[in-house]
This record gives sequence, structure tokens and C-alpha cells, in this order.
Amino acid sequence: MTILVTGGAGFIGSNFVLDWLRGSDEPVVNLDALTYAGNPENLASLQGDPRHIFVQGDICDRLLVAQLINQHKPRAIVHFAAESHVDRSIHGPGTFIKTNIDGTFTLLEAARAYWTELQGEAKAAFRFHHVSTDEVYGSLKADDPPFSETNPYEPNSPYSASKAASDHLVRAWHHTYGLPVVTTNCSNNYGPYHFPEKLIPLMIVNALAGKPLPVYGDGQQIRDWLYVTDHCSGIRAVLAGGRLGETYNIGGWNEKANIDIVKTVCALLDEMRPDPAGKYERLITYVKDRPGHDRRYAIDARKIERELGWRPAETFDTGIRKTVRWYLDNPDWVARVQSGAYREWLDKQYAK
Ligand code: NAD
Ligand code: DAU
Repeated sequence: MTILVTGGAGFIGSNFVLDWLRGSDEPVVNLDALTYAGNPENLASLQGDPRHIFVQGDICDRLLVAQLINQHKPRAIVHFAAESHVDRSIHGPGTFIKTNIDGTFTLLEAARAYWTELQGEAKAAFRFHHVSTDEVYGSLKADDPPFSETNPYEPNSPYSASKAASDHLVRAWHHTYGLPVVTTNCSNNYGPYHFPEKLIPLMIVNALAGKPLPVYGDGQQIRDWLYVTDHCSGIRAVLAGGRLGETYNIGGWNEKANIDIVKTVCALLDEMRPDPAGKYERLITYVKDRPGHDRRYAIDARKIERELGWRPAETFDTGIRKTVRWYLDNPDWVARVQSGAYREWLDKQYAK
């Protein structure tokens, strides 16, 4: 048996592949285009491991996707590949429409063609697992209950709108064609291999470089944070036991304001790598807000707990400590992802 993972060289995808192969010998075919966010170095520990077959390619490439599926005959497709950064979607939504919507459509069609021809056990066991986000539900007010699976979709950014569209396609392919799908909608992940365009890794690498820590607006926006390996275990639980056609919210019961996240990172760095120049908090700089910035996300993760017995293993305190440690222990990884393209992005986004 084999699974096909898309986007397995990105942040969550690479953690998922590493985690999967730590716990199982079932091979993984990993299809990733290696955009700026994809990094084969995340998977360096799997070099020479016959259980990991890496294929550089685009999920929008219909022939390639069909050929891979027919060659490897996966029992499941776990679909991570996406453009994932909200700020980039504001600067340039085109690639988000292409990869997140067209790409998901291409995969669904290839999966449907393959699944239709399967017989008996193999047909019954096949799964298409779509990895999505809590951002599809829009923004909560301070006293609203957390997002449950029945919340209406109200995406507000080009990124979340493209993910919402992909969720709808997945739902329709189940409803209309019977394709055996499950979807997970997860909150903000953090942990190793997180590209330093996103809040937590950006704050760590900027602080270590003595650069400003840019906090958007008033810093009071709230996100729910989940350590990445807990997301991976949630996906495994839903892949193994989720009901067909259902969606499952995955979250960490960890609502935090951005400014508190940044201060926590600063305090951990003060402890683990004190700066002779002073406390890291001195670098906090309030900058112009993100356009259309969602105020609050929160996840009601009771369905996945009730049906599948999943709960996060890490608290925010344990997860953030491991994360800061990982960045301190992996300066070469950080240096290598800070390529010319990365610097151009920082100039564009934080110029003023
Ligand atoms: P990421 O940006 O770190 O990685 C995305 C990966 O997809 C990269 O390896 C990239 O090369 C690959 N990719 C992009 N376009 C591709 C294409 N056309 N064909 C093949 N590969 C392509 O993203 P991430 O943070 O790891 O997120 C993975 C998935 O999880 C996404 O679907 C995202 O929407 C979802 N998600 C992310 C979070 C989060 O906090 N990061 C939370 C919930 C859901
Ligand atoms: O909620 C799940 C989503 O979480 C995923 O679907 C996305 O793929 C993922 O990128 C993430 O989206 P966010 O927009 O919440 O993550 P980001 O790290 O970009 O920002 C987190 C919060 O921090 C957000 O409120 C914006 C703020 N922020 C971000 C950056 C990069 C800042 O204040 N300053 C910054 O420099």
C-alpha cells in the first residue's frame, strides 16, 4: 500500500511525511512543485529511504498527476499542496486561484478517474483527504463561540476564498460522484520547518538578527495555535476513521493575541539566547495593518475528539519552547531559506 501526498516539501507536508514514516513503513509518493515554500532540505533525513518517492511537479499538470496515480496506485491521497500565505495572496491572488482551485480540481478529477475503476476492497478503502483551514469561516467577534463544522463559509482574503472554493469542490465531488473524501479545517500551525514569512518564525529569525518585529495594527488579533505534529496526528486520525463526506475541525484550544505570541517568543529568546543589547521586546514595532485583517479565529474541536478520540499532545507552552529551540539549533536551515527571493518579499511587504 502507498499514499500520495501533495505539497510534502512544505511546512506541514514535510512534518506529515516525516511523522508518517516514523510510525509506519507504508511508502509515500510526494508530489511537490518546489515553489518558494517547498524545501527538499526538510526531507533530507529521508535521503536514500526507499519508502519516500519524491516527484517534483505541479498538481495542475493533469497528465503527470494521472500518470503518478496509475503507476503507484495509492490507497489514499492527502492533499496539502497550496499557496498558503495570506499577505502574498493580497499582493498577487493569481497563483492562489491556479494552485488552490485549479490544482484541487485537477487532483479530484484524476482521483475520480482512478477510483471509478477500482474494485471491491480497494475501492471501499480509497480516501481523498483534503487539508484545509479555519480561515474559510471568516472572522469571529470577541464573544462569538468558536468555529464548528456547521459554521457558514465567509472567507475574507483571496487565500481563504481560494481554500473555501477548493473545499466546495471536494464536497461536490463526494455529493455528485460519490468520491470518498474527508476534509479537515485546521487552525494556525507552528513548529519546525515553518517558513519565516509567517508570524512565529519571522519573529524568531528577526529577533536573532536584531531586526524589528513587525506587529500588524494593534496586535490584538486572535488566532488559535496548534503544534504541527498535533495537526499531523489529527489528519492521520481522520484519514483512518473519519466518516466519508464529513469535515473535521482541528485546533489546539489555544487562543492567543498576536502581541502575546510575540512577547512569549521574546521572553523565550531572552532565556535561551540572551542578547547583550537588551530584552528582545525592544524590537517590537507596530506597522500598518493587513488589509481586510480577520480579527479572531477559534476552533471548536469537539467533533474530532468525540468521534475519533483525537486531542492535541502539546500545550502552547511545550510547543512554543520546542519551536524556539528548533530555530536556535538549525541556523543553517534558516540561512539557506533566506534566499534572494525571500529578501525581495520582505522588502516588498515591510518596506515602509
Ligand atoms: P506551505 O506554503 O509551507 O507549503 C505548501 C507546499 O505546496 C510547498 O511545498 C509548495 O512547494 C507546494 N506547492 C505549492 N503549489 C504547488 C503546486 N501547484 N503543485 C505542487 N505543489 C505545490 O504551506 P503549509 O503551511 O505547509 O500548508 C499546507 C496546507 O495546509 C495548505 O493547504 C494550507 O492551506 C493548509 N493549512 C495550513 C495551516 C498553517 O497554519 N500553515 C493551517 C491550516 C491549514
Ligand atoms: O488559520 C490558519 C491559517 O494560518 C492558514 O490557513 C494559513 O495558511 C497560515 O498562513 C495562517 O494564516 P495567518 O494569516 O493567520 O498566519 P500569519 O502567520 O501570516 O499571521 C498570523 C497573525 O499574525 C495574523 O493575524 C497576522 C499577524 N502578523 C503576521 C505577520 C507575518 C503580524 O502581525 N506581523 C507579521 O509580520
